[in-house]
Amino acid sequence: MTESTFFGEGKPIAGEIAVPGDKSISHRAVIFGSIASGTTTIDGFLRGNDCLSTLACMRALGVGIDDSGDRITVHGHGFDGLKEPSSVLDVGNSGTTIRLLSGLLSARPFYTVLAGDASIHKRPMGRVIDPLTMMGGKLWARRGNRFAPISIKGRPLHAIRYTLPVASAQVKSALLLAGLQTEGVTVLTEPGPSRDHTERMIQAFGGDIRTEGFMHRIAGPQTLAGIHVRVPGDFSSAAFFIAAALLTPGSHLVLRSVGVNPTRIGMVDILRKMGGNIHFSNERDWNGEPVADIEVEYGTLRAAEIGGPAIPRLIDELPVMALIATEAEGTTVIKDAAELKVKETNRIQTTVEQLRKIGADIEETDDGMIVRGHPGRRFTGGTVDSAGDHRIGMMLAIAAQKSDNPVSVCNAEAMAVSFPSFRDRLAALKK
Ligand code: S3P
Repeated sequence: MTESTFFGEGKPIAGEIAVPGDKSISHRAVIFGSIASGTTTIDGFLRGNDCLSTLACMRALGVGIDDSGDRITVHGHGFDGLKEPSSVLDVGNSGTTIRLLSGLLSARPFYTVLAGDASIHKRPMGRVIDPLTMMGGKLWARRGNRFAPISIKGRPLHAIRYTLPVASAQVKSALLLAGLQTEGVTVLTEPGPSRDHTERMIQAFGGDIRTEGFMHRIAGPQTLAGIHVRVPGDFSSAAFFIAAALLTPGSHLVLRSVGVNPTRIGMVDILRKMGGNIHFSNERDWNGEPVADIEVEYGTLRAAEIGGPAIPRLIDELPVMALIATEAEGTTVIKDAAELKVKETNRIQTTVEQLRKIGADIEETDDGMIVRGHPGRRFTGGTVDSAGDHRIGMMLAIAAQKSDNPVSVCNAEAMAVSFPSFRDRLAALKK
């Protein structure tokens, strides 16, 4: 376990940065490359531990994947190219890997076991196992089929109409990966918006998916063809630097080539309402994904109410939004965010507990947080703990910007799940 110390000298954040590749898109690029026919090349693949878990799982399923350092090349042979692995598939800390592969493998004619670390074994898996079982899948898991490890005896499935109980891109994607292999039309309805990278990627790989509002129809079976994928920078990684700039007077930052898919940038909408200076330029399209340069400048902020359908569009950014709210004038209320309790940690609890340790005025509610902002009031600094959660670790490192004393983050190695070079990149931006 490593402890990493961040020095809160309040130095402005300035310059330009290209953040590492998008985590959600990197997972999907390797998975879709593996099930497509032909070669898929991937530039900008995120070398975080989560995406490396997906890569290792696809290799264990018999897919040829070359890694030149700059570029990943996946030699896909269609769904039938996947073979029964000789051992348990290790998903590490990755919810996206275990849930998407559960859907994919439920329809493959062989046996697999998906297992991961202690955190993944505590996260809810019934949300994928239940609908896959309704499709005729044979899946088993611990404690009443609700917790990993998951074992799967793959077989032909049948199409269903299903309404997801929670807006979840991982569940939707698992069912789309099953539906792509299944005779008939699988119809999925979501209760609200969730990230749509899978839908965009199905189309980029030549597949057909119809979406109307929150309803998706996928007719199977389909075959996909390999493509060249350019992975945009991860908005969820950019969010930490946006926060650092907004917390530190004198900051001015440009983030190059960041994914600005509307299902991912709820944080920008909220920050603009709070008075944040954020501008997009050079807007373009990479494989059906919108990309832009983002410019952010320090300025004073006011509190906001964050809840309702906005939540899935900024779910991974809520810990760092809570931190930003400590600097905004007034009381920020985050609600309707109970899903935060079943992320890598209970992120309502870990955010509140750790930020309080260094002097934040924040409290936990059943489905969110209440943050009383004190613009200009410095944190005390001290020792905090990522609790093994990458996003909590990085949020706490950024909290040092608002402290005159150092902030030491225990279990700092967790940051490598989504952003291995985080510490160096942050240091390079402090002027
Ligand atoms: C992800 C979906 C989200 C998000 C997670 C990545 C994905 O989870 O929180 O970090 O890649 O599909 P849900 O599926 O639970 O919404």
